[in-house]
Amino acid sequence: MVYYIRFLKCPKLDVKTGLTRALVTITTDLGDAFYPGDLTLHAMLVTDYREEPITEWRTVQWIKGMRSVSIEIGALRNCDSKLRRLLLNTQRTQAADTVLEKHIPEIFSARSGTFSMDRPLAGDKIERRYKTGEDDERSVYEETGESIARHVWDAGIALVAFLSNVTRQPFPKAPLAMILTRTTHGPKVLELGSGCGIVGLEIARLCPTSDVLLTDLPEAMAIMEYNVSEVKVSSTTGKITTAILDWNDALPAMIRQTQYNLVIVSDCTYNSDNIPALVKTLAAVVNKSPAALVVVSMKVRHDSEAIFFELMAEAGFVTVEDYAISLPDQQRGHIGQELDAVNVFVFRKD
Ligand SMILES: C[S@@+](CC[C@H](N)C(=O)[O-])C[C@H]1O[C@@H](n2cnc3c(N)ncnc32)[C@H](O)[C@@H]1O
Repeated sequence: MVYYIRFLKCPKLDVKTGLTRALVTITTDLGDAFYPGDLTLHAMLVTDYREEPITEWRTVQWIKGMRSVSIEIGALRNCDSKLRRLLLNTQRTQAADTVLEKHIPEIFSARSGTFSMDRPLAGDKIERRYKTGEDDERSVYEETGESIARHVWDAGIALVAFLSNVTRQPFPKAPLAMILTRTTHGPKVLELGSGCGIVGLEIARLCPTSDVLLTDLPEAMAIMEYNVSEVKVSSTTGKITTAILDWNDALPAMIRQTQYNLVIVSDCTYNSDNIPALVKTLAAVVNKSPAALVVVSMKVRHDSEAIFFELMAEAGFVTVEDYAISLPDQQRGHIGQELDAVNVFVFRKD
């Protein structure tokens, strides 16, 4: 299982005492289970400047059976006007989490929004800072608290690790790798159900010639657009745009009129009620872009998700590539536990 440290409310600095207080949990992406063991959490007050030392540090004990834990850390002085973040990690370090195909972290660290003596309530965005190898650190922002659309999911994290690996291959042969490593005629990419946008944004970073459209329901647009605005756009990043696309609606004209090379779907099959509309949308997109590859990452949580494969087959899709990325329990070879993995399927229209 993968667990995420989450702030249940925005941390708040008490300007009289200089103490910062927060209520946090350690839970799965679906929020259906809490971290099941004892764990020492390291709480740190940090600035956005990595070279600056940790201002304050303390440990907090998470005990098996807990659903949340209160944290109090201090003490900032009145004259201190710096912007701080509360960083929670399983080690005393400001380093980003390392996300590799062969090593998905068991617990993701979390950085709160900024706060200061002048603005004591932290901003409502939680930063997940991670790196996918030697290259630059990435940040993806989630909203504080629980919501399906507005945080990152295991299959999204695993797909990011997988795609980073795919694009590092020296002589790519698989169709997906060849599309992602194109240096000319960059791929047009459509992502459905992008949520925070972690996958589509990674594709834009990995493939500077790409033109990526992130889509989701209206309620996800604010956090998605925030993440897009935080990406340092440069000549080494593909083009990124966003649009509302509800799978229950007809395709917007702009999507109907574009020839896509890749359609990405990450962790969107967990609710089988949505699967018919999702497959209908995939079929409609690929009807207009018959050569497109459809990349689906999924962490199967219920047997009912099998309907996805039946409907894809009925719609004329065939699987051309199929990969499995192990999640922590499986990576460590725990005996007697349910195997936990994310599967990545690449489909093409027959
Ligand atoms: C579990 S989240 C996955 C988010 C992201 N792809 C990731 O991997 O982190 C599922 C996403 O599907 C979106 N979604 C659910 N029903 C949808 C619909 N009918 N039309 C469009 N998006 C939908 C949700 O809003 C949410 O962002």
